[in-house]
Amino acid sequence: MSAGGGRRFEPAGPIRGTYRPPADKSISHRAALFGAMSDVPVTVHNYLDSADTGSTLDALLEIGAGITRDGDDLLVRGVGLHAALEATGGRLDVGNSGTLLRLLPGWLAGQPGGEWTLDGDESIRRRPVDRVVEPLALMGAGVAAREGRYPPLTVRGAELHGIEYPAPVASAQVKSCVLIAGMLADGTTTLTETRQSRDHTERILQRSRVPLERDGLTVTVTQVDELELDEITVPGDPSSAAFIVAAACLVPGSRVVIGDVGLNWTRTGFLRIAQRMGAVILGDLEEPGTVSSEEPVGELDVAHGPLEGTEVGPDEVPTSIDELTLVALLGAFAEGDTTVRGAAELRHKESDRIAGVVDGLRGIGADIAETADGFSVRGNGARLEGGTLDARGDHRLAMLGAVAGLASRKGVQVVGMEAAAISYPAFEQDLAALLPG
Ligand code: S3P
Repeated sequence: MSAGGGRRFEPAGPIRGTYRPPADKSISHRAALFGAMSDVPVTVHNYLDSADTGSTLDALLEIGAGITRDGDDLLVRGVGLHAALEATGGRLDVGNSGTLLRLLPGWLAGQPGGEWTLDGDESIRRRPVDRVVEPLALMGAGVAAREGRYPPLTVRGAELHGIEYPAPVASAQVKSCVLIAGMLADGTTTLTETRQSRDHTERILQRSRVPLERDGLTVTVTQVDELELDEITVPGDPSSAAFIVAAACLVPGSRVVIGDVGLNWTRTGFLRIAQRMGAVILGDLEEPGTVSSEEPVGELDVAHGPLEGTEVGPDEVPTSIDELTLVALLGAFAEGDTTVRGAAELRHKESDRIAGVVDGLRGIGADIAETADGFSVRGNGARLEGGTLDARGDHRLAMLGAVAGLASRKGVQVVGMEAAAISYPAFEQDLAALLPG
């Protein structure tokens, strides 16, 4: 590592062995939040230890929940759904977490008399919140954002009423915010998505015995007084595992068996896309369309092999949203063209991930072009040359750069590798453990 110059990842491999990914970030956020909304203590097994999920614990402590850690377990002593939450009038720091920024307001909005302002780091201040301002205002909350669109976001709680809301973007964060507020709103609250996004909130609502109905892309929740939840086990994160999957696909001679990974079908779009590209990925992926209150967990067996280009359209985007930059990387090593369309949402992530992946991969030798809502990359089956890739403060771009370095011909210098700690603090150690001694 050279000061200010980043972290270098030399060509290395094969990547071999068994691997267990860190706990799921999405489910960890929800487990802690639902624990805080519960009247009885909730034990969360395998809570993710990362910067983002730490921000959620800090915010929940601020508003009055009790939280104790015991190894990988968390004991959350909640305050109940309709609590008099603390820190009213104050500022809640969401750090870099878009999920906390969008989910917590759903609960705060239903607390009459309370007022909180959510704010975070420089990146969070560029993340749109109008997508939650609109439905919460329709439900009766007082919500205000900078320029109507960006944090700081102020939420003034109110007696909420149920709405029927056609969500303009396929976003699990928006859906979750509305469903959480819906538990506090009189009558029923219905949200219709344009495409199915991850359904962890629906599954945890069902496990909490909250009346919930799903009809295709429409979800309806009914007002409740309390949650009935006592224990949650968080599976391994398929989005974190995806970096190891990609490394195993790209580095010759690799074979990795991944255990305890979440295989919820609303999260495994990347695995199906990679399989279509020819990647050798074996595992019992949950059947697309499954409606369940459980989070399926299983094993994946991944090996290196030749890849070919593919087309990814809007229907596949929500189930692969956090892994689409890895589709670009696989495409750069594949034979032929790989195109991703309908993914304009990538511009609103921790960084503009379309610009970040296109500039980043081009800088290390890829033939890649940006479009308004995606990218297209042309591969000829050869390894990328290497060079420098700027993570732009984005954890997923940092880890992408590391994987690209291992698979490249000359290595990749990743500027801003420390961003990986947002979701995956042990990424470098886990990767090193799979490399030859
Ligand atoms: C998340 C939903 C997705 C995803 C993010 C986590 C969640 O965002 O990109 O990393 O936990 O609900 P959107 O809901 O904005 O698509």
